[in-house]
Formats: sequence, structure tokens, C-alpha cells
Amino acid sequence: MTHALGTSPRPIDSLLARLRVPVISAPMLIVSGPELVIAACRAGILGSFPTANPRGEGELEQWLTRIEDALAQAQDSGEATAPYVPNLIVHKSNTRLDSDLAAIIAHRPPVVITSVGSPAHVLPALHDAGIEVWADVASVKHAERAMAVGVDGLILLTAGAGGQTGYANPFSFVRAVRAMFDGVVVVSGGQADGWSLWAAQALGCDLGYMGTRFIATHESNAQPEQRQMIVDSELDDIHLTNALGNGLQTNMMRKSIVAAGLDPADYGVEARPFTGMSGLPGDGEPAPGPKRYRDLWSAGHSVSGVKEILSVAEVVDRLAAEYEEARSRTFAR
Ligand SMILES: Cc1cc2nc3c(=O)[nH]c(=O)nc-3n(C[C@H](O)[C@H](O)[C@H](O)COP(=O)(O)O)c2cc1C
Repeated sequence: MTHALGTSPRPIDSLLARLRVPVISAPMLIVSGPELVIAACRAGILGSFPTANPRGEGELEQWLTRIEDALAQAQDSGEATAPYVPNLIVHKSNTRLDSDLAAIIAHRPPVVITSVGSPAHVLPALHDAGIEVWADVASVKHAERAMAVGVDGLILLTAGAGGQTGYANPFSFVRAVRAMFDGVVVVSGGQADGWSLWAAQALGCDLGYMGTRFIATHESNAQPEQRQMIVDSELDDIHLTNALGNGLQTNMMRKSIVAAGLDPADYGVEARPFTGMSGLPGDGEPAPGPKRYRDLWSAGHSVSGVKEILSVAEVVDRLAAEYEEARSRTFAR
């Protein structure tokens, strides 16, 4: 499963061709739960969630079973569903990595997305189980390292992405990676509509990656005020900081920092580290004050494209209509 340039059709192509629109509902800490994943897959797009979200003993297993049962039921009723693709955070701080890996392998989704580190540790076992590995990367150097490990896909984190963001320009990054990699390329950052997905494909990507757009859906685990803040924010309201995310650059909604009684000016790039933990239950001794992701909310520049709170099915309907419009306008010129 290596992908140098010029190789024959990829095993995943038939699955990608069945998607209604070329997009992944991106994994989001706290926000992505079974309802969001099931709704995404039923709407015909790939649905992802971080395996860190189910917290209790055996809860990941329950989530996986619940998602698979719901999708099997939908298929029995004649729906054409897309698969779910779990996200493993492979950073050394993830003490659950090996048990989460074993749970995923037992369920055999077609693809696993790895983030925040090298997939080297998990890739052999996933490949042995016939599961593709798509790794997120933020630089050409990281892309080369992931290719050397043998990944099947690369998710390119670019400037303006929600969560722990990239910094590269998407045009330059996609073209640099496409020049050396025939595997699946996914671009993350700045996309909220079907026009962007068409543009991503024109650039050479297989798929787009949307997080922020799916926060403002009825099925997300976001708080009501968080969804509304996405709708009420413009890209100018997105605040880049490395003081709120373990030192990694993270895009946050400025309004949520202010609402928590903090001054965004104190939390810039290279500002003092923030001690608040992730806000997930079971994350150790809570630090006093607001928690990032629970009270301080992340989102990307794509907030500018989110104008109302909708169901996932409605969002995907709109993405499909916009994608078709963008495509037909291109060929009408
Ligand atoms: C609230 C939030 C939480 C996120 N949590 C994760 C995560 O747990 N794992 C991960 O790989 N990416 C995470 N991301 C990044 C997304 O998967 C994706 O790269 C990003 O949302 C794309 O940019 P967009 O939000 O502008 O669409 C998160 C993003 C947001 C907004």
C-alpha cells in the first residue's frame, strides 16, 4: 500500500466515487459524537470522530457498535450510506492509544485518520487488518515522513483550519504534495461550501475536510451558544494562539475568550501557556478557570461561510447543490 507517483488505480477509489460530495465531516474533540457521525454517513459523506471523545471504560466499543448498527439499519431500509472513519490521536500523551487501536481493528472501518504525530506506531497493525491510514500533516517535511512510513492518504492542515491548525497556504501545499504523492490527498481549512470542494478537487485533492461547518448542526455535541457563536462570527473573529492548545497553534473564536472573562491579547502566539485542560471529563485534576474546548471554543476561518444552524442532511444537500453549480459554471465558461 505505498503510493509513489504514477501507480495504478487505488483500492479506495471505488469507495470515494460513491460519496455524495467529496468531503469528510472532520473529527472534533467533544463536538463529534455518534449522532453527528451517523448523520454524516447517512447523508453520503465520510463521518469522523476522535476516539478520545468516548471517555468511559468500554465506551468506544459502545460508540462503534452504535454507529455500525445505525448504518446497517439505514442500509436495510435502502439508504446508500458512506462509511465512518475514526480518528486516532497518536501523540505520546494519549495513554489509550493501544486499547483504542485494538477496538478499531476489531471493527475494521476502511480508513483510520491519525493526527498529532507520526502514524509509524499504529500503521503496521492497521495495514495488517486491511485498514488504510490517512495521516494529518502541516508541512512538506511531515508529509515526506508520513509517506516514508507508508501512509495511504495525507490530510493537509492549512492556515485558517479550526482546532490545531496548519500555517501553509493551501495552493502551495497541495501542489507540493501532489507532485510527489499519488495517494489520497485531503485539504483541511477554510472550506464551508460546495464551491470550495470543487476548487479542492481542481487543485488535485480527492476530498475536503470540514469541521467548523458541522459544529453548527443539530447533531453536533456543541453547546447551543457555541453553535450560535459560529453563525455570529466572521473570519476576522478567529484568533490564532499557541497559548491555548499544548503549545500548538490553534484557531479560537475570539468571542468565546472574551465571554470567559479573558483578554485575547494575553493569548497570542508565543504568549504564556494556558493551564486549562481540554474540558473532557476524566482528564485529570482540573485547573481552575475556563477549559479550552469546553468553555473556550475553537473554529476556523470557514465560520464566514456558516450562516445558520441546520441538520447535517440539510448541510450536505446544500454542499451537493453548490458543488454542482460550481462544476457546471466551470464548464460553461
Ligand atoms: C472544535 C474542534 C475540535 C477539533 N478536534 C480535533 C481532534 O480531536 N482531532 C483532529 O484530528 N482534529 C481536530 N480538529 C481539526 C479538524 O479535524 C479539522 O482539521 C478542522 O476543523 C478543519 O478546519 P475547519 O474547522 O475550518 O473546517 C478540531 C477542530 C475543531 C474546530
